[in-house]
Amino acid sequence: MIVDFLINIAYLIGALAFVWGLRLLSSPDSARRGNTLAGFGMILAIIAAMSEPIEGASNNYGWIIGAIVLGGIIGLVSARRVQMTAMPQMVSIFNGLGGACAVVLAYAELVPFYSGGTELDTAGLGIVMLALFIGGVSFTGSMLAFAKLQGLIWDSTLLLPKHNVINMVLLVATVGLGIYLTATGSSAGLALGSAFMVLALIYGFSFVIPIGGADMPVVISLLNSLTGLSAAVTGLIYGSQFMLVGGILVGAAGTILTVLMCDAMNRSLVNVLIGGFGGGGASAKGADGDQVAKEVTVNDAAIQLFYSNSAIVVPGYGLAVAQAQKVCKEVDELLEANGVDVRYAIHPVAGRMPGHMNVLLAEADVPYPKLLDLDEANDALKSTDMVIIVGANDVVNPAAEDDPGSPIHGMPVLKVWDAKNVIVLKRSMRPGYAGIENPLFFHEKTRMLFGDAKDSLSKLASEIKNL
Ligand code: TAP
Repeated sequence: MIVDFLINIAYLIGALAFVWGLRLLSSPDSARRGNTLAGFGMILAIIAAMSEPIEGASNNYGWIIGAIVLGGIIGLVSARRVQMTAMPQMVSIFNGLGGACAVVLAYAELVPFYSGGTELDTAGLGIVMLALFIGGVSFTGSMLAFAKLQGLIWDSTLLLPKHNVINMVLLVATVGLGIYLTATGSSAGLALGSAFMVLALIYGFSFVIPIGGADMPVVISLLNSLTGLSAAVTGLIYGSQFMLVGGILVGAAGTILTVLMCDAMNRSLVNVLIGGFGGGGASAKGADGDQVAKEVTVNDAAIQLFYSNSAIVVPGYGLAVAQAQKVCKEVDELLEANGVDVRYAIHPVAGRMPGHMNVLLAEADVPYPKLLDLDEANDALKSTDMVIIVGANDVVNPAAEDDPGSPIHGMPVLKVWDAKNVIVLKRSMRPGYAGIENPLFFHEKTRMLFGDAKDSLSKLASEIKNL
């Protein structure tokens, strides 16, 4: 009795730690504490779950502790080793494994059910089918998202003719079979139950195939929310309020993020899911053949920056690749010391994961108030002397505004061309993630400073110090 009470209290504290931890994650200052608190909640819940012995079962403590130790070591080593630039891939794998857990747990309920070992009413069976479906889609979908982000598979490699029609048929067939299995109970048999699981796995894979290019952030956050939902549904199977709360929090956070990402792209979710590639491999209106990008020397760039009144830094994926955030802050401090007002324009999908630029700049101790969101930045750019683009490309592409044929047309971008001068730091004329040319590089206000971003910023810092 007292043990039951303590277990329930532990679940309650664990759930509160999740909610409060999530709240702390909303600001860079408290995010680390939030993460620790949520981790504490999870440890408490695991201890509580293990203290809840199932009568008549062997409880398998050896297997459970062995799996926790093995999983903990793999998680710790990969979290320490992963590069900031590979974070989205890691998130995809975590999402996928969460979905895989739901599939395994749900299937473990189905096997004894069909062999007559256990009983499930229609609602219980429906929940198991839901866990199989959502978990399966999230597992294979996330694994494919990982392969695409890692560059192991090109967007168009697996695309079939009329792929969206195939997806629709697959979806209808899978959902239809799930409803049939729920309605018919154990008479349907394990073979059909297994076929349902396989269909869900195939659908998850197939539904991510047509999504690519600049739409990948949306699919990753959508899969994240599906993983949360699969955990919540598994919580229903086991009557665990803690899993339910945790799953709903992840599901809700993922859903909110998906909506924000769609807004950032100015696309509806349906449009992202069935609209084909979001730019991958496609090509926008290219620069006229006779147009040449104009270069600037480090010395000229340093002089222009040093004697300006205001500057806005636009960080992008290249900042993460070059790990240039600290030297970027150094340039910022040198300019500020000369009275230049330096701020940062943060595009919601800059980099490769939500909040990527915020994390990098926080690592370099850039004060949060210096960061402008898309709308604030677009207002500020109109009265800004200098823009320094550090490894950003798609998020400053004017084709999104003025080329209806561009795959990113309609996506809100940072209108850097509204400022007086633009300096672009990148290594070459290569395109960004969406794989399309950027007319900004040929704009009359733009000057290119080629080289690795960290290297170019270090040289800029040295030049500014000598002025
Ligand atoms: P991108 O458009 O991908 O452009 C990054 C640029 O950085 C490249 O053109 C590259 O040019 C340059 N670069 C790479 N390494 C560099 C280095 N060491 N030094 C200097 N420059 C370097 O980046 P973005 O503007 O941040 O846009 C993000 C894109 O990723 C969007 O299309 C977005 O939809 C997509 N995406 C975002 C997310 C999230 S959630 N943020 C997730 C997945 C995909 P060079 O090779 O010439 O140097």
